Amino acid sequence: SARKLLILPGDGIGPEVMREVARVTAWLGRKRGITFEVSEDLVGGASLAEYGVPLCDEVIEKAREADAVLFGSVGDPKWNHVGFDKRPELAILKLRQELGLFANLRPAKVFDALVDASTLKPEVVKGLDIMIVRESTGGIYFGDPRGIETLPNGEKRGINTEVYTTHEIERVGRVAFELARKRKNSVYSVEKCNVMESGLLWKEVITDLHAREYSDVTLSHMLADNCAMQLVRNPRQFDVIVTGNLFGDILSDLASMLTGSLGMLPSATLGARGANGKMPALYEPIHGSAPDIAGKGIANPIAQILSFAMLLRYSFDLQAEADMIETAVSNVLASGLRTADIMSEGKARVGTDVMGEAIVRE
Ligand code: NAI
Ligand code: MG
Repeated sequence: SARKLLILPGDGIGPEVMREVARVTAWLGRKRGITFEVSEDLVGGASLAEYGVPLCDEVIEKAREADAVLFGSVGDPKWNHVGFDKRPELAILKLRQELGLFANLRPAKVFDALVDASTLKPEVVKGLDIMIVRESTGGIYFGDPRGIETLPNGEKRGINTEVYTTHEIERVGRVAFELARKRKNSVYSVEKCNVMESGLLWKEVITDLHAREYSDVTLSHMLADNCAMQLVRNPRQFDVIVTGNLFGDILSDLASMLTGSLGMLPSATLGARGANGKMPALYEPIHGSAPDIAGKGIANPIAQILSFAMLLRYSFDLQAEADMIETAVSNVLASGLRTADIMSEGKARVGTDVMGEAIVRE
């Protein structure tokens, strides 16, 4: 059956880096006989300009019907004056919510050729390849009660509540254990069970799930503050890390800087497989629309291309093709080609299109 792919380039450098993915899909069709039924729509500022909303209902419907969504990035300073309910960025927030995308996968992988671009010592990050699984639809960002209230004495109080149910913890835990089985078979579950009841439940549920269904995977527990420290001290001790929304937000940003550049990092957000066997999934680079370099043809397309590789891996089980793309990226970097964001002395500076072409040729 046809592989249905929805492509949403968005704003700024989104469409520029998405063009390089089109080269890769064309190559897959030509050389490997792998084809997609592709449709493409406007989101974010581009959709606001055309339809007056950052995300049309028809696009949400198409996203539901697709096997996978490849997202670029949204955001345009042109729309800074509009109300909060009409910001381009709402497009991605709404898509995640509507598709029930509860597991955010953020790999942090260091390419050997770029070890010198990392802000950390080479001996700490060389060969690093970890995956952070962040719960992304629950926890303190969504829990009730929330708000700002005024106390009888006139003082104000801001409230957010960390809430996790057994079901929410189990389903994201399952994603982490399944991933680990395809990687180095190790999961670190991260919470703060020493001071939080929700953390205590988190640890209990993950421990039970492990004993029941995943005892072949090595499970360890770690407190979130220690994990932040360990990620900087010795990140290679980890394989898969699974954690809640707040800790995952912070730890995944921290981990991304272990690798040196925003322009290199892909991500996936996955939902629960439905009765029809379909798993909602959206893939996107972690970077934004980079308005400062948009239109100049200098954006690094690698994060977008690696997001597509993740899509092949997780939505279509095309492991060999995903490996080929990742190896091609690695080899092109080793050959010395660099976009401006990862440029270093003695290397060849190229634009978005030359980098994309080189990866496809490789
Ligand atoms: P940003 O990630 O767009 O840019 C931060 C810095 O990194 C900029 O100097 C940019 O030039 C550089 N950069 C980012 N991606 C690059 C690439 N592929 N190649 C080379 N350099 C790259 O973050 P910023 O500036 O905070 O946000 C810009 C807009 O993007 C805002 O409207 C923001 O809300 C939006 N945004 C959207 C996201 C999404 O669509 N999921 C995620 C993050 C930000
Ligand atoms: Mg963040």
